[in-house]
Amino acid sequence: MTLHDLPHITADVLDKPSLDKLALPEGASHPPRILILYGSLRPQSFSRKLALEAERILRQFGAETRVFDPHDLPILDSVPVSHPKVQELRELSLWSEGQVWVSPERHGSVTGVFKNQIDWLPLEDGSVRPTQGRTLAVMQVCGGSQSFNVVNALRVLGRWMRMVTIPNQSSVAKAWQEFDDNGRMKPSAFYDRVVDVMEELFKFTLMVRDRSDYLVDRYSERKGAAEARALSAAASVVEAAVEQVPAPQEAEQVMTTPATMRSCCASGAC
Ligand SMILES: Cc1cc2nc3c(=O)[nH]c(=O)nc-3n(C[C@H](O)[C@H](O)[C@H](O)COP(=O)(O)O)c2cc1C
Repeated sequence: MTLHDLPHITADVLDKPSLDKLALPEGASHPPRILILYGSLRPQSFSRKLALEAERILRQFGAETRVFDPHDLPILDSVPVSHPKVQELRELSLWSEGQVWVSPERHGSVTGVFKNQIDWLPLEDGSVRPTQGRTLAVMQVCGGSQSFNVVNALRVLGRWMRMVTIPNQSSVAKAWQEFDDNGRMKPSAFYDRVVDVMEELFKFTLMVRDRSDYLVDRYSERKGAAEARALSAAASVVEAAVEQVPAPQEAEQVMTTPATMRSCCASGAC
């Protein structure tokens, strides 16, 4: 490949993006799989009620949904990752193609209950990345009259977890006014906004899920992997050559022959 005016690019791993690579000969046909996380353990939690409202809308659109219950999820690092609740959360994240994160605002930020769930999700576990390339919708509930602190913080978290966070979002102000005695959200502009957000998440998930490997593929990581492969190949050559070097006594006799010395040097063993 000829690279004009880009002397620092490693040409072998530079991949020119193209529409062809985004085209799907055959996309998945199963319902989009959406994991919903919320951030409160209060029995009357409004973030949980909002999460369940989002679930109803997503199901109406045809999604398959799971809501993770954060009760009994231990605080990060207080138990091994083999703990059943940690495993459940990680498996759900792996299963998901999109996620909805709903946290209350406390002291201007996400709750510990919510953050603890994200903290248990590794960015990378071997070659497995349980959040990378998934779509994400962010929502919050407030006690106060308005705030976007939490949705902003969730966007930062989503970027960190390499997710595709959709543009729309929802912040339900004075959440205590917005739900009825049966725990259902009352009709309002806030409710309509939640429908908008779920609609957008559903569409983005359909668009992204089969292409996420290509979308999140990075030049710098391909370059790193190519360098690692080259190093490992060089190490194997050295290893093989070392194995061929005769034992010391044997070597004394053999190394006297110029031809053998040449082949030994060529293999990189000396
Ligand atoms: C200690 C504490 C701090 C709070 N801080 C905020 C805040 O910074 N901004 C806000 O809008 N609401 C704040 N609230 C109100 C909560 O966001 C509100 O009660 C919310 O419904 C809690 O979520 P939950 O119903 O899912 O438990 C706070 C509540 C408590 C108890």
